[in-house]
Amino acid sequence: MERNLRWQSLAVDRDGRAAIKAQRPCMIWLTGLSGSGKSTLADALERRLFAVGRHTYLLDGDNLRHGLNRDLGFSADDRCENIRRVGEVGALMVDAGLIAIAAFISPFRADRDLVRELLPARFVEVHVSTPLSVCEERDPKGLYRKARAGELKQFTGIDSPFEAPLAAELTLDTSKLSVEEAVDRICNYMVTAGYIEAF
Ligand code: ADX
Repeated sequence: MERNLRWQSLAVDRDGRAAIKAQRPCMIWLTGLSGSGKSTLADALERRLFAVGRHTYLLDGDNLRHGLNRDLGFSADDRCENIRRVGEVGALMVDAGLIAIAAFISPFRADRDLVRELLPARFVEVHVSTPLSVCEERDPKGLYRKARAGELKQFTGIDSPFEAPLAAELTLDTSKLSVEEAVDRICNYMVTAGYIEAF
């Protein structure tokens, strides 16, 4: 199909936009089970970066499913589309010069790898590896209980798979680390990789 589309090149680019913020844009991607601590870590990370004057934006699974992704459910196809859209939106944010933080279960390796390909040398995959038993014990939204009772189908970790990353930049287990320790690890990585200078 001929789509009659052409890529428009624009005068102001990512590096220019990033330069006026004196930061190196990237996407910090938190993946893990429901209840693993992704949103809590993302929130604490954003607070820490904001405190040192970094311009960030946080994309959170539950929140985006109220708007941009409200038409999507939890089938494999819908989760794939969920992550594809977030990847595209995150890539626009990185292009806008921001440090984007994403907190999504994102259970499928192939979907996360597609986002990584969208963001060469700008994608930091953080596996929030808190064990299922701990997530289920926490059960902050009561969803594990519902899933075990058969009232909620296709729940990740129960009757829908989670494919752990094979080569994440960081792996953090929030049953062993405090929130602040986990955020320290992410910030240290960001310094080492040249995304921020200090925190
Ligand atoms: S993802 O799998 O497509 O990446 P996402 O991170 O956007 O998921 O949304 C996960 C949130 O949706 C969970 O934190 C939970 O509150 C809610 N949720 C509702 N149904 C399910 C389900 N079947 N599996 C996982 N999470 C669900």
